[in-house]
Parts: sequence; structure tokens; C-alpha cells
Amino acid sequence: MNSTETPTLFQHPDRNLAMELVRATEAAAIRAVPFIGRGDKNAADKAAVDAMRAFLGTVNFDGLIVIGEGEKDKAPMLFNGEHVGNGRGPACDIAVDPIDGTSLTAAGRQNAVSVIAVSDRGTMLDASSIFYMDKIVTGGAGRGVVNLDQTIGDNLRELAKALKKPVGELTVAVLDRPRHAGLIDAIRTAGAGTRLMLDGDVAGGINAARYETRIDMCVGIGGSPEGITTACALKALDGYMQGRLAPKDDAERAKGIAAGLDIDKLLEIDDMVSGDNTFFVATGVTDGGLVDGVRRKGPMIRTESIVLRSRSGTARRVIAEHLAAKWL
Ligand code: FBP
Repeated sequence: MNSTETPTLFQHPDRNLAMELVRATEAAAIRAVPFIGRGDKNAADKAAVDAMRAFLGTVNFDGLIVIGEGEKDKAPMLFNGEHVGNGRGPACDIAVDPIDGTSLTAAGRQNAVSVIAVSDRGTMLDASSIFYMDKIVTGGAGRGVVNLDQTIGDNLRELAKALKKPVGELTVAVLDRPRHAGLIDAIRTAGAGTRLMLDGDVAGGINAARYETRIDMCVGIGGSPEGITTACALKALDGYMQGRLAPKDDAERAKGIAAGLDIDKLLEIDDMVSGDNTFFVATGVTDGGLVDGVRRKGPMIRTESIVLRSRSGTARRVIAEHLAAKWL
């Protein structure tokens, strides 16, 4: 046990919270299963939201949702500002994404995950007024090496040097969107390969930061809530990330300024989530590079989750078998 942990046990979330949170992402993933490949992303999201909310209600903490189901998912619950938990434990900020990859789920595609991130109260940036964020994510080798203000070519060359391998061996995850056409060209012109993601840049970012995966970098514009959630995970992985809010138009920029955001600031991980007490849990809904999806095995339902905790710097995989009869 780290000697700094004991005195703060009753004010700050402790290690047991991680296992409580994973129950909520497992439940969300399991409840989303009937909607995999059924073409209705809102129904999938609603099932996951309902399950996550019910399980969070039993968790021993006072969670304030800073990153919730925003405008994007038009969800009536788990909204920003809502309190979740039984209210008796430590005061925390919480980011929820009952399904990152609702369209992937509805289409029956890979890489949909259910996600929760938690940090001490008052430490998570509320960037909800600006929908998109420009991001660059790498492993720890990218610290002091990559920078959103450099060209992607320079970032790739510098990262290759730091990783002691040729640019031609780098693989970059990017959301496959028309807005990234120029970025994708530039990555390929620099000599690196791309891993184009249909959706789900939380898993993409984590895979870029994890040791010994096939992804070296994740770049491009994705959701700003997903950016903050990724930052919570990176604290446990010692990964590196920068972000910059990317308002769609002047009206959104004005909304962000009114909400007190410094729109043009180059955000480091500590600007997105300060302090060093973050928790991140993700359970696979469909199979993916980060975790396996939910599988039915006879009378059992198998889930796989990843549980990250920054204070201890641990990444655990939790494989659970749930008696299917209990989930009827
Ligand atoms: P949802 O599951 O909420 O649809 O989010 C999926 C996602 O791909 C995120 O991972 C990503 O950050 C964001 O959407 C990108 O937004 P857009 O689809 O508008 O490019």
C-alpha cells in the first residue's frame, strides 16, 4: 500500500470503487446485447443508460456527472449535473459513456465499449459546451516530443525517433471522417500507416497509449467528452495526450467562452483532469482491440473489462461470468 493512500481513504475514492464501477459498465454492456446489429442506436444506448444508471445508484459515492449523455445522444438520463451513487461515500466527478460506439453497436460492428471515468470532485474539465476536440494521443514516449502545434509529419518523425523505429513502422489511428481527409493523406505521405476507425476514439486513444499495441498514435477531431474520458485513462497508463477544443462555429465558440472555457488553449492531460486519482473502466460491448465483447456461453454471459487506476498505475483485466438466468 502506498503510504499516501491511507489518510485520504475517507475523503477520496479508494481502490474498491474500481470494482464497483465495473459492475455498472458490465451491466450496460450486457443490456446492450439484444440491440447489437439491430439498426437502432438510440434503443441500444437507452438500454445501456438504464442499466448503468441503476447500478451506479448502488455505488458508495457521491458522483457528480461532469461528462454525461449530452445533446449528441438526446438521452434523458445521466445528464451533466446529475448526482449518481448512494451519496454516502467520497465526492467525485464522473464521466459516463454507456456506449462509446452506439452506431457500431447498432450495425453489429467491432469496438463498441461501455465506459466510466472518475476523479476527485472538482478535477474534471467540463467541456460539454464544445462538442469536438482536436486530440493527439501516444504512449509516454510522446511526452515532450509530439505537439498539436507541429505538423503531423513532424510529429511522426519525432515520435519515430523517440521510439527508435522508422516512420514506416508507425501506425496511426484516425476516425474515418471527411474532415480528416487531409490529415490521413499527410500521415501516409510521411510514410506511416493508418488504422481508420469507424467510431470509438476512446478505445483508439487507449490503444495508442498502451504498451506494445499495434497503434503508436491516435490523432484527429473527436468528441470533447471522449477526450476528457481518455485523459482519465492515460493517467493510469502514463500515456501522453494533448487536446484543443474545436468549436463547430462562432455560436458554439461563444457558448464555450460563456461557460468559462479557454477555447484556444493547448490542453495538457492535467488541464483535462487535474490531480492523480483517476479511475477508468471499460467493458466490451462488441469485440474489439481493447477488450472482447459480451459473449454468451451456455448458461453464462462472459464480459471482459479493463480497469485502470492512476494512483497505483495498474491496468487490470476483469473477466466475469454472469449466470444468464439472472439477466432475464
Ligand atoms: P457515440 O457512440 O456517442 O456515437 O460516439 C462515437 C464517436 O465515434 C466517439 O468515439 C467520437 O469521439 C465521436 O463519436 C466522433 O464524433 P462524430 O461521429 O461526429 O465524428
